[in-house]
Amino acid sequence: MTIGTIGILTGGGDCPGLNAVIRGVVKSAIIRHSWEVIGIEDGFDGLLDLKKYRPLSLEDVRGILPRGGTILGTTNRGNPFSCPMELEGKIVQIDCSDTVMANIRTLGIDALITVGGEGSLKIALELSRKGVPVVGVPKTIDNDLRETDFTFGYNTALETATDALDKLHSTAESHHRVMILEVMGRYAGWIALESGIAGGADVILIPEIPFSIGRICEAVKERSGRGSRFSIIVAAEGAFPQGGGRVVAKEADERNTIERLGGIGQYVAKQIEHCLDMDVRVTVLGHLQRGGSPTTFDRALGSRFGTKAVQMVADNEFGRMACLRGRHISSVSIEDATRDLKLVDPNGEIVQTAMDLGIMLGC
Ligand code: F6P
Repeated sequence: MTIGTIGILTGGGDCPGLNAVIRGVVKSAIIRHSWEVIGIEDGFDGLLDLKKYRPLSLEDVRGILPRGGTILGTTNRGNPFSCPMELEGKIVQIDCSDTVMANIRTLGIDALITVGGEGSLKIALELSRKGVPVVGVPKTIDNDLRETDFTFGYNTALETATDALDKLHSTAESHHRVMILEVMGRYAGWIALESGIAGGADVILIPEIPFSIGRICEAVKERSGRGSRFSIIVAAEGAFPQGGGRVVAKEADERNTIERLGGIGQYVAKQIEHCLDMDVRVTVLGHLQRGGSPTTFDRALGSRFGTKAVQMVADNEFGRMACLRGRHISSVSIEDATRDLKLVDPNGEIVQTAMDLGIMLGC
């Protein structure tokens, strides 16, 4: 298949390193292959509206490597296979993917590079099944995409969470308090687990291991008994108590198809205050984890994924996603990568490391 023009879009929640990918794609497409590149704005929404695109030149990507966010914009709402429409006063979901297909043809896009997490890559897979030549690039701060050792953005989020834990340590120690840090991680506890190990947490709560309030209190009391009059707890937003459910900040509605999580830190604080004679404070790290300049690791990984995606287009490797295996960049089918999420193994080496360090994992 002869390629003249490629499109690129960024979908789902943003994360540090997206601009490194865009720059990698634009530079290698133009310098190595003399292709044209079209940037689609605001994820798949940009393919439903022919005003939301722009050509990308070398000039357009100059200076974006250290910048957080995405110069193309993104959204974690919207799916062209399920577009909300008002019909007789009611909102119904209809399939708009034919409009996307028509717009891809109108723009003269020969192949589409989709940079996204599980949700966006599943949409890309559906488009590929309809005949669009698609290449995926894995993105998420949660690092929960299967078939790649790391997604870019995760390393930067970890740095942010670890830095927060370092800062909480000194104030926790001064005031003899329990400090709870709530971090992102809807289904997977990677950020909580690895930042907790790196930041010297005493208790780590992750969605993969339902926790017991009683055991958390015991762990804090044991520490106090050993003379450590403060404790640090890291809780992933998706962590939940044994027999209970996730703490939801906002239910799903017509605009947001999945509920917004948030509040696990406050929940745990309220519960442990009953069994501890200590002050407890909560810090919610929130979207600070998604913002800011990418780390060296994420800039390099994003650049490698971007150039690999272009090479995959040149090699007609469609329906596949760039991935990192060990130290090597490779590719895998999008279908395999999105089959299910890469969760923390409760019996795996990293959890064992945490336990060997005396960290309590909630039960
Ligand atoms: O998927 C990445 C993620 O950061 C999740 O960990 C979190 O639940 C979600 O995005 C938050 O998204 P929003 O930007 O809609 O608040």
